[in-house]
Amino acid sequence: MRSNKAEMLPIKYVFSLLLIVMALFALAACGAKQTPPPSAPPSEGREIPTPPPEYANKKNPLTGNAGAIETGKGIYNSNCASCHGETGLGDGPAAKSLNPPPRPLAQEAYLTDAYMFWRISEGGGMPPFQSAMPAWKSFLSEEKIWQVIAYLRSLMG
Ligand code: HEC
Repeated sequence: MRSNKAEMLPIKYVFSLLLIVMALFALAACGAKQTPPPSAPPSEGREIPTPPPEYANKKNPLTGNAGAIETGKGIYNSNCASCHGETGLGDGPAAKSLNPPPRPLAQEAYLTDAYMFWRISEGGGMPPFQSAMPAWKSFLSEEKIWQVIAYLRSLMG
């Protein structure tokens, strides 16, 4: 009998520890629900950060420039289409194996010149993106990035 009681004690202890842990999880879940991100996330509920100060005021000098769009198309087809798809729908042959996958480059308010220039330059190797999107700033000149953005805009319609 004595040994039985001795065995029960640790079990009770473990059980109450479990209860405490569960209560903490419940509290954490409530806390997360009560603090939504400050800016309303777009349709998919993904957090879209704004570009850092060094990119915030960037504007594409080549928007609508036919020559830039044509050059941008060439840059896009050889560097971007494998993931983003020929028409920017996120359906390139490499897209299926990516997590997170590329999203359709549709006309969304957050896809500003500054945002796209930032994302193309710096890629996805940082929070909150943590994606396979490469950083292009050491491969493409600033002009080439603007040309490809001019082409992206033409795809977005
Ligand atoms: C290896 C696959 C891959 C290649 C190649 C690639 N991307 Fe991406 N790209 C992604 C993925 C995955 C995402 C989505 C995750 C993220 O936002 O980081 C993304 C995100 C982006 C975004 C942000 C879109 C958004 O909705 O936030 C832009 C803009 C973009 N890519 C442009 C380009 C351009 C331009 C090129 C070519 C110069 C390119 N990408 C090449 C995988 C790729």
